[in-house]
Amino acid sequence: MGHTQFKQAPLPFVGQKRMFLTHFTQILNDNIPDEGEGWTIVDVFGGSGLLSHTAKRLKPKAQVIYNDFDGYSERLKHIKETNQLRRQLFQLVDGKVSKSKVIQGELKEEIIQAIKAFKGFKDVGALAGWLLFSGQQAGSLDELFKQRFYHGIRQTDYPNAEGYLDGIEIVSESFHTLLPKHQANSKALFVLDPPYLCTRQNSYKMANYFDLIDFLRLINLTRPPFLFFSSTKSEFVRFIAYLQEIKGDNWQAFENAQHIKMNATLNYQVTYEDNLVFKF
Ligand SMILES: C[S@@+](CC[C@H](N)C(=O)[O-])C[C@H]1O[C@@H](n2cnc3c(N)ncnc32)[C@H](O)[C@@H]1O
Repeated sequence: MGHTQFKQAPLPFVGQKRMFLTHFTQILNDNIPDEGEGWTIVDVFGGSGLLSHTAKRLKPKAQVIYNDFDGYSERLKHIKETNQLRRQLFQLVDGKVSKSKVIQGELKEEIIQAIKAFKGFKDVGALAGWLLFSGQQAGSLDELFKQRFYHGIRQTDYPNAEGYLDGIEIVSESFHTLLPKHQANSKALFVLDPPYLCTRQNSYKMANYFDLIDFLRLINLTRPPFLFFSSTKSEFVRFIAYLQEIKGDNWQAFENAQHIKMNATLNYQVTYEDNLVFKF
């Protein structure tokens, strides 16, 4: 088993819960004794796997299930190639365009040709991070090539991710089918970090847009023990209060749940409140 403790995902992932690791760690330690023997921790919306990684390091005897819905673990296997491509592209632009400035014309074409000619794995998520305007994502290379390029190619390699997912079970399926499999196990903790209803969702697999019906379905499949992440951008906290008020379907699952608020800073201008609601 690897020993490096990652404080952020090895490859960039929009929406990774790195600001929450201290709280997450505290809650697991407060509620799951010792090394977690007999427990199952289901990271239902696994994303970068950062929460699975943290849980497994903390509770090594627990069974940790990482639901990798976006194929992130595949990206991790190819970090070496991604670093190779990064070096090639960096050399192409270095000295020609300043950091954050637009890349256009011939140079953009050269970059596209270099990507096309590259024989190894092409990590679209990483490429978007280097070449698109901050935070923009692309679903495919074709989509990427159509957009305006900026020089955001990092100067250093990504770290080696060896050991990051050691001992963790990887699955890939919708929460619709995953949750029922563990519903009856009272020692299966549901870690729920769904996409936000109200934010742009094209960073994630678009074919599986997380809509209102998904949200309601998730509420109905939730039962303690659970740990639910939600930003104020989503209406989760208000919805839960409303559910209590009208005693709507499955309201008891959320009765007397604990609530942690945290202010997160996105950049120097934008801060927002994040919520962590949990019940064991
Ligand atoms: C906010 S992100 C999770 C981030 C993760 N906790 C981390 O720290 O990296 C939400 C994830 O849910 C995935 N997702 C979207 N629809 C889903 C579904 N129906 N079932 C399971 N996962 C889904 C998205 O692809 C995305 O990876």
